Amino acid sequence: MSYNTRDHFFGYLNWLFNPFHGLKTTEVYDLIGTSSLTENALYLNLGYWRDVDTIDEASEELALLVAKRGSMGPGDTVLDCGYGFGDQDILWARNMKPEKIIGLNITNSQVERARMNVADAGLEKSIDLREGSATEMPIENESIDLVVSVESAFHYRTREDFFKEAFRVLRPGGRLVTADILPTKNSDNLFSRTEQWISWSLVAGKFNIPPENYYLIPSYNNKLSKAGFVVGGNLISADFGN
Ligand SMILES: C[S@@+](CC[C@H](N)C(=O)[O-])C[C@H]1O[C@@H](n2cnc3c(N)ncnc32)[C@H](O)[C@@H]1O
Repeated sequence: MSYNTRDHFFGYLNWLFNPFHGLKTTEVYDLIGTSSLTENALYLNLGYWRDVDTIDEASEELALLVAKRGSMGPGDTVLDCGYGFGDQDILWARNMKPEKIIGLNITNSQVERARMNVADAGLEKSIDLREGSATEMPIENESIDLVVSVESAFHYRTREDFFKEAFRVLRPGGRLVTADILPTKNSDNLFSRTEQWISWSLVAGKFNIPPENYYLIPSYNNKLSKAGFVVGGNLISADFGN
């Protein structure tokens, strides 16, 4: 084991098991690096598991579901917030053929790797991956047709600020589609509510997810409406609760 590998290994254990060791979002993703669960790509989402057997397929299915929900197609300028290693952007560019995809991601190590992936795929002309935040978009007003965010918006500080920014950059009639993680049950049982809150808090602590982003689907929709969106299409939920 080299010194760096050993350091990384203990840094990883410290992050996982030391309850007092919090990391910034970018530090978490720097630590995780390219150790994604997928084999053929570097997706970092939990996937959409309908009619598929592997995490590779499920991750692609989730990306395709988001694109289809947003009617992504030729002529669209798409803004992808929290693009990870850019795998979904390459998939969309090849399959949906939008005019342009702009990406925003705050994790510099991912930005660099994602740009390399896009260059290797020969897609630099249609995919422009930038370093920047979904809550303070370096994007002109009313310049985007479709804003998407695949399993990233729970990180944003805050998700509500992201909604406001998404509304600002979208052209009139533009669309926003998110694949997001949030609690879906408001059980009457105090114990299961407490259990859900504790498991959320543990994961949130490790992944630096702001407490302001912990709310149920009706509040999600209210916040979207408050930002100016007409909520339609609504949610396909994967409920991991019991
Ligand atoms: C769980 S990963 C999902 C990556 C990718 N969408 C996928 O499905 O593989 C979350 C991503 O959100 C990014 N992220 C977190 N906060 C962000 C912010 N404020 N603005 C832009 N990206 C952010 C992280 O750097 C990371 O790439």
